[in-house]
Amino acid sequence: MGSSPLVAANQSNIFAQGVGEQPAEIPAFEDHLFRHFAFCLFGGSLRNLGAMRVLTGIQPSGALHLGNYFGAMLPAIGLQEQGEAYYFIADYHSMTSLTDAAKRRQYTLDVALDWLAAGLNPDRCVFWKQSDTPEHTELAWLLSTVTPMGLLERCHSYKDKVAKLADGDVGAVNHGLFAYPVLMAADILLYDTQVVPVGKDQKQHLEVTRDIAIKFNHIYGDTFVIPEPRIQETVAVVPGTDGQKMSKSYGNTLELSGDEKSLRKRVMSIQMDSRSPADPKPDADKNIAIQLLRLVAPPEVAADWENRLRAGGVGYGDLKKGLFEEYWKHFAAFRERRAELASRPDDVREILRAGAVKARAKAQKTLTRAKQACGLD
Ligand code: TRP
Repeated sequence: MGSSPLVAANQSNIFAQGVGEQPAEIPAFEDHLFRHFAFCLFGGSLRNLGAMRVLTGIQPSGALHLGNYFGAMLPAIGLQEQGEAYYFIADYHSMTSLTDAAKRRQYTLDVALDWLAAGLNPDRCVFWKQSDTPEHTELAWLLSTVTPMGLLERCHSYKDKVAKLADGDVGAVNHGLFAYPVLMAADILLYDTQVVPVGKDQKQHLEVTRDIAIKFNHIYGDTFVIPEPRIQETVAVVPGTDGQKMSKSYGNTLELSGDEKSLRKRVMSIQMDSRSPADPKPDADKNIAIQLLRLVAPPEVAADWENRLRAGGVGYGDLKKGLFEEYWKHFAAFRERRAELASRPDDVREILRAGAVKARAKAQKTLTRAKQACGLD
């Protein structure tokens, strides 16, 4: 094992344990939010951020909202400064649930615009779309042959879908959905990924990836780096307009881009209780608008609204108007950048193509290594 080409000279063996000890180094975040998110992401430890390789996949599923922004984008954008970041648009994955080609094309461009406008820097990370690196599907086949059926049958994503079907009609579930975790494992393993920042809902998929990689290494010899799960437990849970977690499936989102009138309407629709404006609100910190203000307004502005609400005398209508102003201001630069990028979609596609060239160079090496290990050379 010691002579394996995968083990860099200055690292301990990363097959078995994920990220090796890196020199402690506190990175200089420019934005306090990035620092906050990375802190949450790494369980309070800013060590081990040295030269790690981070990878995540982004589903192209339509307009991004505040929950995506604070939950996934900002943390990922912060991490591009820390190590080698690989971020891709998971358009192959989207095929398990979306069958409209025009929509897929549109959503893919939308996601690219959103991420680039939010600060993803293609010079500091590798940013591409999955279908431009077909190595993912080839590796997925290799991996599928060492993946026990039972492992996939236990996956919540698949089980939930089956449970929702009338009389358990499994014929209505496509094989892609069943095999999705294998493709995800290929996404991760192709880049010798050490760290995968994902939400809690993806925890099980990461465990599957680790199981598959360990099994493959066991059968064919050390081939894949075993990735470390970094689950974002404490990262901002952004409340939606109804107070539940903001999520497209609950229909309670506030979009990042959109016209002023409809966004204002969405903000004004945020649910409040029936207490009168004069009433003091000792629970002001639980108010949805206050929680959102804390994310989009300067801290002193959010604190001021909160204090006034607590004391009594502030109407919910005024509070929501105040929130809208801050929300609109907070994303002004984002909107401007997004509109500018949207005016030259070919350049954006070119950014993705250039990213794919970089990604492929790495993916091909790993795929060759895997094929050699199985005697496919
Ligand atoms: N399954 C992820 C999601 O639904 C997206 C994804 C695809 C992904 N491949 C990945 C995430 C690899 C992390 C690593 O959000």
